[in-house]
Amino acid sequence: MLRNKSRTFQRGIRPSRKDLFNVHSSPQLAAGYSGKVRDKSILLGVTGGVAAYKIVDLIRRLKDEGASVTVIMTEASKNFITPLSLEVASHNKVYSGLFDTPMAHITLTAEADIMVIAPATANIISKFARGIADDLLSTCLLSFNKKVVIAPAMNWRMYENPILQENLRHLISRGVIQVGPEKGSLACGEEGMGRMSEISEIIEVIRSALSKKDLVKEKILVTAGPTREYLDPVRFISNRSSGKMGYAIARAAIRRGAEVTLISGPSLLSQPEGVKFVSVETTVDMLNAVNRELPSTTVLIMSAAVSDFTPAKRAREKIEKSGDLLLRLSRTPDIISEVRKKKDRPFIIGFAAETGNKVRRAKEKLKEKNMDMIIFNDVTEAGSGFDVDTNRVVIIEREKEIRLPLMSKDYVAEAILDRLSELRRIDG
Ligand code: PMT
Repeated sequence: MLRNKSRTFQRGIRPSRKDLFNVHSSPQLAAGYSGKVRDKSILLGVTGGVAAYKIVDLIRRLKDEGASVTVIMTEASKNFITPLSLEVASHNKVYSGLFDTPMAHITLTAEADIMVIAPATANIISKFARGIADDLLSTCLLSFNKKVVIAPAMNWRMYENPILQENLRHLISRGVIQVGPEKGSLACGEEGMGRMSEISEIIEVIRSALSKKDLVKEKILVTAGPTREYLDPVRFISNRSSGKMGYAIARAAIRRGAEVTLISGPSLLSQPEGVKFVSVETTVDMLNAVNRELPSTTVLIMSAAVSDFTPAKRAREKIEKSGDLLLRLSRTPDIISEVRKKKDRPFIIGFAAETGNKVRRAKEKLKEKNMDMIIFNDVTEAGSGFDVDTNRVVIIEREKEIRLPLMSKDYVAEAILDRLSELRRIDG
């Protein structure tokens, strides 16, 4: 099995247009950060279910993140997808027969960091649970001693069968990680619990399984998205924040074992699995929600783009159009400044959204608001800041500055948490 050998990203070199806009095909952008699948060897078992056709996408996305994927197919799976398709997608030999390659059941598992079975049929689940080894995949499962993720997919009656449920419980009690299935329309035309989870969800579970759990002691409060300040019942002042940066931080913190509360302004993103989610609209709503969560918070990460101004008066009814409208704005409460006054204040990480390369201004904000760390991002740079999947940030502390290349927000989140984890270890 080949490990990924893509070159590492060199600091200071501007990424190409392809890197900027096609992050998934730029594994080098992810170099050097923990908690993801880069450079990991994934042994992927594909079994005989209709969902097998989706596995090409799973392999492609894992490879885009820099993983090496080796596939083992069961005989039944070949009715749904060809070995050639999976060989082309994985750039690796596809294995199947127990005796095709001598000792494959030992060598493949020795080299793998994780095994993933997707789709996982009732047959492979039950064989795995009972220790039956009658083909290459089931034999590999027996000789593998690291984490295994299974993504069941089958007819709902098979899924609900008490024998299968007992086998699943048995596997979970032995540390196997189950993702899905979901409820929905099934290949047989019926509705029910049995659809394989979305590929993005399977990847999130794989990332989590491979993640170090260095934040288990932390209760992290993340704010994300914009706030809205109303002029009247239908009009408001806001900004272009999508929530992507903050949601990425919340997901990464969950993967690393933290207890996470996500306070979000209006966003189209779906709630990350495993967080306590609080939805807010205005700055005052956000301040109140932060205050409510504070007593149990050890780290506050303010990635929300909080409005600095609010209309001095909010009209009860829709303001009629009649000539120009003069708006008087007043300052909103500053959430970080409120938090830092508290006696047992948490570790505070703020963000500085600047227009231009104003790292100096971010450093001033760090001092003015008495934060422990501030993340500078130039929101006018292409591919950085608001409503894009990438960001280029500088992590700024009192005595230290870490400049990062343009990366996906997922990796920016990991890099911030890497530094947080280091500092929290130093502080004891
Ligand atoms: O959501 P995305 O589309 O992914 O975009 C991400 C982002 C650009 C919004 C994010 O990376 C970012 O920069 N967030 C902070 C935006 C901001 O409000 O910056 P600021 O420099 O104006 O504020 C400095 C800090 O004070 C911020 O942590 C902010 O949350 C906080 N603040 C601001 C105003 C206020 N009334 N109270 C606050 O606590």
